[in-house]
Amino acid sequence: MIKLIVAMTKDRVIADKGAIPWRYTEDLRRFRRMTMGCTVVMGRKTWDTIPDYYKPLTGRLNMVLSRSRTDMQQYDFPSVLLFNGLEEAMGFCESHLPKERDTWIMGGAEIYREALENTKINVEHLDIVTVPDNIPLQDATLFPEINWEEWVQTSHYKSGELVIETYRKA
Ligand SMILES: NC(=O)c1ccc[n+]([C@@H]2O[C@H](COP(=O)([O-])OP(=O)(O)OC[C@H]3O[C@@H](n4cnc5c(N)ncnc54)[C@H](OP(=O)(O)O)[C@@H]3O)[C@@H](O)[C@H]2O)c1
Repeated sequence: MIKLIVAMTKDRVIADKGAIPWRYTEDLRRFRRMTMGCTVVMGRKTWDTIPDYYKPLTGRLNMVLSRSRTDMQQYDFPSVLLFNGLEEAMGFCESHLPKERDTWIMGGAEIYREALENTKINVEHLDIVTVPDNIPLQDATLFPEINWEEWVQTSHYKSGELVIETYRKA
């Protein structure tokens, strides 16, 4: 199943000046727990924001999308799969990986947008963590608008300062 995971503010901010401006250990642990053993798909800019000592994300097949890069090996990460399109990446998952292995779209904004807008990409599950921070919108990166008519909430709970919601396709 293709799933999407994001942490954002109530204003849909996912980053500020090219970085995530908050740090909640609980969110990081949860992200690790949810995605462990799965495939994670991210844009090249998100990949570049991950410190080298965390790369690739362990226990997960890392897929990076880039139109400009052609070879991950030159970055010393030969185990990371590089694709020049989201459809190609999803096609690889469908044809090469076991059906029960979930694929998590993990951002950033460009990749979230294409995953939600491209009718050939069937995202079936949203996992949204809302953080309490107030970030000015001026230099912010925003999560795309969601058409909520397409989604049914499956869980909603508070965990400390975080609000965690999951949705399935209507
Ligand atoms: N709060 C959260 O949950 C969360 C999660 C993830 C990321 N983030 C933040 O989001 C920010 C990055 O988001 P962003 O939107 O600027 O960048 P991004 O989506 O991470 O990456 C954009 C890059 O991905 C490549 N790309 C995009 N669409 C593609 C496609 N269809 N096919 C092939 N390659 C494609 C291009 O790489 P090339 O330029 O190499 O061609 C493009 O420049 C970072 O600050 C990160 O920290 C936040």
